[in-house]
Amino acid sequence: MGSTDAAGHDIVRLTAADVTQALDLSTSAQWNQNAADWLMMFSLGQGFGIHAVDEQGARRLAASAVLLPYGPHFAWVSMVLVLPAFQRRGLATAVLKHALGWLRERGMAGVLDATPAGRAVYAQEGFVDTWRFARYRREAGPPAPPAPERSDVRAIANADWPNVERLDEATFGADRMRVLRTLSARWPGAARVVASAHQTRGVMFGRDGREAHHIGPLLADDAASAEALIDTALRDAPGAVYLDLLDTRRPELLSWLQAQGFVFQRPFTRMVWGTRSAPGDTSRLWAVAGPELG
Ligand SMILES: CC(C)(COP(=O)(O)OP(=O)(O)OC[C@H]1O[C@@H](n2cnc3c(N)ncnc32)[C@H](O)[C@@H]1OP(=O)(O)O)[C@@H](O)C(=O)NCCC(=O)NCCS
Repeated sequence: MGSTDAAGHDIVRLTAADVTQALDLSTSAQWNQNAADWLMMFSLGQGFGIHAVDEQGARRLAASAVLLPYGPHFAWVSMVLVLPAFQRRGLATAVLKHALGWLRERGMAGVLDATPAGRAVYAQEGFVDTWRFARYRREAGPPAPPAPERSDVRAIANADWPNVERLDEATFGADRMRVLRTLSARWPGAARVVASAHQTRGVMFGRDGREAHHIGPLLADDAASAEALIDTALRDAPGAVYLDLLDTRRPELLSWLQAQGFVFQRPFTRMVWGTRSAPGDTSRLWAVAGPELG
């Protein structure tokens, strides 16, 4: 079902049938999403798109936006993308306005993680900045030496899930168990907790991607637990790895990450619309799930 905005853009709902063209869009921006990411987002939320005719006369998916509702109060605004040949013609603004209309009708707030280019578009629509984080990338390295003994880092067991759910919900600000369950299947080797018999001191997930694996979300009580979790994922990663580190964590973790080969890539700003502050509590958060998931 589609609708036409005031400027004449036909805005359609995207479905699993649009994944190939959606992947062309994210790849055109050199983003890391693969088909599984788009499918996960279409199954958890609503995708919106605008088609346009390119210079060769082919009709293509030229712009996208995805809304991921996380409970009744807010939705993640994700995958705002426009093919390079169609940029600066108002397509991002049009698809974003449509998505915001969907939120307004339901009395929901919008939250997102903006690239510098996206931030300009969002600010014009009333989004305001909250905290920042940055993406770091580690290239594939030689095989890691055997892991040091850390018997407290282990795969997430069934009995851990209630604790994982409680920790993540308090940190993220909403229940996102469907996302975390999906991530645990996407990269089982990164689905880990740091736990003693009585206490969960950290939890990590990750996923595969188009050109690198991605570590996150990463929640931990202290830097040593965060390092132990990341180290486990690095040993399991088949190639390059991304991690999106909160700026406030740089003093505690950046030099260790750099020693592991991570290099700064680009900054992101968490922005909100229809609410004053970002949901959740960052006191245990080290790395986000990714700008498209929160
Ligand atoms: C960011 C992006 C979605 C913008 O799409 P777009 O269709 O070109 O945006 P619009 O035409 O609606 O732009 C509206 C206004 O936002 C601002 N803007 C848009 N892109 C900008 C950029 N790259 N730098 C600075 N300002 C920008 C301008 O003020 C623009 O109005 P103008 O063209 O009249 O000056 C597009 O450049 C893109 O897909 N980039 C790669 C992926 C990305 O970073 N997405 C954002 C994710 S958070």
